[in-house]
Amino acid sequence: MAAIDAVLDAAGVKNSRVRDFVRQWAEHTGAARVEVVNASDDARLIAEAVEAGELLPAGEGRYYSRSHPKDTARSEERTVVATNNESDKGVYNNWKPASEMRPMLTERMKGASAGKTMYVVPYVMAPPGSPLQPYATGVELTDTRTVVLHMIRMARVGVEHVNELADPDYFVRGVHVTGDLDNLGQGTPDDQRYFVTIADERTILHYGSSYGGNALLGKIAHGLRQATYDGWASGKFLAEQFLLLGITDKQTGRTYHVCGGMPSASGKTNLAMILSPDALGDRYQVHFYGDDIAWLWVDPEDGRVYAINPEFGAFGVAKDTNEATNPTAVEAIAEGTGTIFTNVAYNEQTQDVWWEGRTKTPPADATGWRDWKGELISERSEAEKDAPWAHPNSRFTTTLANIPNIAPDYTNPKGVPVDAIIFGGRTRDREPLIRAITDLAEGVYDGLTLGAEATFAAEGTEGVLRYDPMSMRPFMAYSEGAYAAHWLKIIGAAKDQPIFAHVNWFQRGEDGRFLWPGYRDNLRPLLWLMQLRNGEVTGRQTPVGIVPTKEELQLEGMDDLRADDLETILSIDTHRWRQEMGHREEHLKLFPGMPEEIWEAHRRVAAGLEAEQG
Ligand code: GTP
Ligand code: MN
Ligand code: MN
Repeated sequence: MAAIDAVLDAAGVKNSRVRDFVRQWAEHTGAARVEVVNASDDARLIAEAVEAGELLPAGEGRYYSRSHPKDTARSEERTVVATNNESDKGVYNNWKPASEMRPMLTERMKGASAGKTMYVVPYVMAPPGSPLQPYATGVELTDTRTVVLHMIRMARVGVEHVNELADPDYFVRGVHVTGDLDNLGQGTPDDQRYFVTIADERTILHYGSSYGGNALLGKIAHGLRQATYDGWASGKFLAEQFLLLGITDKQTGRTYHVCGGMPSASGKTNLAMILSPDALGDRYQVHFYGDDIAWLWVDPEDGRVYAINPEFGAFGVAKDTNEATNPTAVEAIAEGTGTIFTNVAYNEQTQDVWWEGRTKTPPADATGWRDWKGELISERSEAEKDAPWAHPNSRFTTTLANIPNIAPDYTNPKGVPVDAIIFGGRTRDREPLIRAITDLAEGVYDGLTLGAEATFAAEGTEGVLRYDPMSMRPFMAYSEGAYAAHWLKIIGAAKDQPIFAHVNWFQRGEDGRFLWPGYRDNLRPLLWLMQLRNGEVTGRQTPVGIVPTKEELQLEGMDDLRADDLETILSIDTHRWRQEMGHREEHLKLFPGMPEEIWEAHRRVAAGLEAEQG
């Protein structure tokens, strides 16, 4: 006890509630020592991690880590939202009573950090001075050094964030205990892992993983699950799995901001990082604000919706990142950026890294290369020969400041005014390139019926979407009906409402090829959307929204785009859509308390489709 106090004194931790929290859990988990972390400790912690073999050098100022092979992704089945009120139970939030979860996790964590260091990571998930900052402060306790190094990149970390709180007790308490990863029965009926957010007690208890979304408590557990709950409970804001970008028209000097949700692995990071296509580069400039989380609130002064990116870094999918698909990311993870790679392939002789899609084919000379599990490529058996070198969910972690087209005002405490909210699924048919929606309830309805194709049998039936409302399915913290009502209330309070749109980069031809080249060309439908909002184009009204005519899209430089493909991605397959409406109805019926405005929007769209010819 005395030793812990001495550490907290030396680190300048003055908040007595934080001190109590640290003392309690240090004793309970049996950690051998306590260390308080500031962002300025990064270089020393990196050196220690390299010395200990937790990180391997990957060229100048870059690092490589492998997670445990049983611990490579978020686990949705083991993730729980607990509260003291059963009415918080939703369809997707895996609700459990707090009275059951707190003792269970406390028991699992007892003595589980014995012999280890417990790092105290005070952080804030907001630009400094933000009106939402009170909801953004937290302290993560973790027994894993690489988790600390990731937190320093993904959140603003330092003791100063917890010392001067208006209410010293109002911070999120996060406890991360890794446990014995060899023996947790991951994925078996005897799985020991538990990732619990006790939302109404603002406490996060995660046990049994040291990987990304399971272990960086500031990011997903606080930045999304806790924040979406706080935003609703306070009645003040929305917290969404959204990207946020800015488009400046150099001809008019106007800047537009677009935010929106796409399910995991459906292109948020890629879209957030796009550059203008070459042919439009003289006129339009795109700026990055955020690639995974946005918090939205309405400023009563001007009646506009504002969005902040609460994060400090990007945790992006490595697969297919290359100079053609995402040159911005390539630069953001170059030497000298402090980037940490996780679960890509690594060459122990040259310290090089590689992943599928980095180059067309793997390095010709396999000497020194090991796959994400650490096995030498040259010693692979015949059966393993074609296995990917990198894990499909391998990632890079870099700070926002490394992103070359980061917006000049990305730390604006207020955030930026939102012109459009988009939803993007991954759909091989039915969904056109873009369809715009001007009605609030229809826009929210569209977000609630967002989905991505079922990719394998376990996830659903062929042709039926895996619905992922607003791309928040894995992060829902309260009931979906209340969530929809909260959306209508927050955005409905804006005098100047953003336009909504649904986008799809993934339509395929019968031969399986993508009909739209995607990536930086995705700016073109967004430009059309801004023109529609400005009244400069009118588009074509359909029962599911307004779609562009082909003359309205700025297609300069797209000489390879086939006229018939363009036709397809700008048209509505009425027959297919009527089918979809039946699935949507089943989906919406799952959610008790869905506001009548949402049902009315559903019926309007359905009636419009019925009235169509064909
Ligand atoms: P999380 O970080 O897990 O939330 O996912 P994300 O939404 O950020 O996904 P990300 O941007 O990393 O994209 C995932 C995959 O989609 C990658 O394999 C990309 O190459 C691919 N992708 C992104 N944009 C496009 C596009 O415009 N067209 C095509 N065909 N593929 C794309
Ligand atoms: Mn991403
Ligand atoms: Mn995400």
